[in-house]
Amino acid sequence: MSVLVTGGAGFIGTHTAVVLHESGRDVVLLDDLSNSSNEAVNAVRSLTSPDLPFVEADAADQAAVGRAIVEYDVDEVIHFAAYKSVSESVEKPLAYYSNNVGSTIGVVQAMIDHGVSRLVFSSSCTVYGEPDEVPVTETSPTRAVNPYGATKLVCEQLLADIAAVSALDVMLLRYFNPVGAHPSGDIGEDPSGVPTNLVPFLMQVAVGRLDRLNVFGDDYNTPDGSAIRDYIHVMDLADGHVAALDALTANTGCVAVNLGTGKGYSVLEVVAAATEVIGAPIPTEVVGRRAGDVEQIWADPTYAAEILGWRATRSLNEMLADHWRWQQQHPTGHKDSN
Ligand SMILES: NC(=O)c1ccc[n+]([C@@H]2O[C@H](COP(=O)([O-])OP(=O)(O)OC[C@H]3O[C@@H](n4cnc5c(N)ncnc54)[C@H](O)[C@@H]3O)[C@@H](O)[C@H]2O)c1
Repeated sequence: MSVLVTGGAGFIGTHTAVVLHESGRDVVLLDDLSNSSNEAVNAVRSLTSPDLPFVEADAADQAAVGRAIVEYDVDEVIHFAAYKSVSESVEKPLAYYSNNVGSTIGVVQAMIDHGVSRLVFSSSCTVYGEPDEVPVTETSPTRAVNPYGATKLVCEQLLADIAAVSALDVMLLRYFNPVGAHPSGDIGEDPSGVPTNLVPFLMQVAVGRLDRLNVFGDDYNTPDGSAIRDYIHVMDLADGHVAALDALTANTGCVAVNLGTGKGYSVLEVVAAATEVIGAPIPTEVVGRRAGDVEQIWADPTYAAEILGWRATRSLNEMLADHWRWQQQHPTGHKDSN
């Protein structure tokens, strides 16, 4: 029996694959490499097993997903595969709906065809849009303020509807803002093109790949005027997936769970903390607000502790130190592993 990890060559997928392997599970990666590389797969193999299976396929291709389920005797699925950039989704909504919803349909159809019933789905705190109050709980109103968030809401609804009339059991994990890297520095976030998230952008400035960090807006209604997010270490997030799979054996239906720390940091606070960790100033320029960004959001992590027995434990400094180690060892990402 094994767990199929779609999007398994990506940032969160690679880290989760390593932690799943450590938990004693057999892991199968599936990815179309649209935002990742074979080098990322090899790095996972070097941290787990040289024989760890990898299937290069589009998760929307239900026949290919079905073949992987049969070949590797899959009984659990974690579906990470998706496009994830808020700003890109504003420019290319059709590509986002097509890939994010299409891949979810492909995966679920293949699971139903082959009698696989346990699914962990990568959702996002973007489903809360601009929240009325913080912290957000799982019962806070959901609303999409950008096409990326809309694709996650559509997928959540789709999975809840299917779970209501089938044997499918689903954990919808609403991630806050994952950063950091495996402590070895061997895997980490390796976006194709210019990063659109704060920490990877900042780290690429620090290694000299980008000139300066854009701070999108200093006129928000927050203490220092910059936007506030709940940053979570990717290794804590990976642990949360193991806990979610374990909890799925006891829970039926479709359940949404926040994976965050419960603490928000502003963009300027993160830049200050990163400056200390890196030991050098980060050239920064304040520019206008970015379409699709919300002002402030952080999680209420209480329900995750109750239902998963899981809590994030790593600090912002640990996230930044681990991310920096990865970036220093791999200034141009996994390509440096050649
Ligand atoms: N990183 C974040 O800030 C964040 C926050 C909340 C939710 N999420 C969600 O978590 C999941 C993983 O995010 P990530 O940060 O690891 O992103 P990532 O881009 O690093 O990883 C996603 C992987 O999926 C692959 N992929 C995309 N479409 C595919 C398809 N149709 N078939 C097969 N593979 C496909 C990509 O090649 C990539 O390797 C995504 O669903 C994302 O929306 C991410």
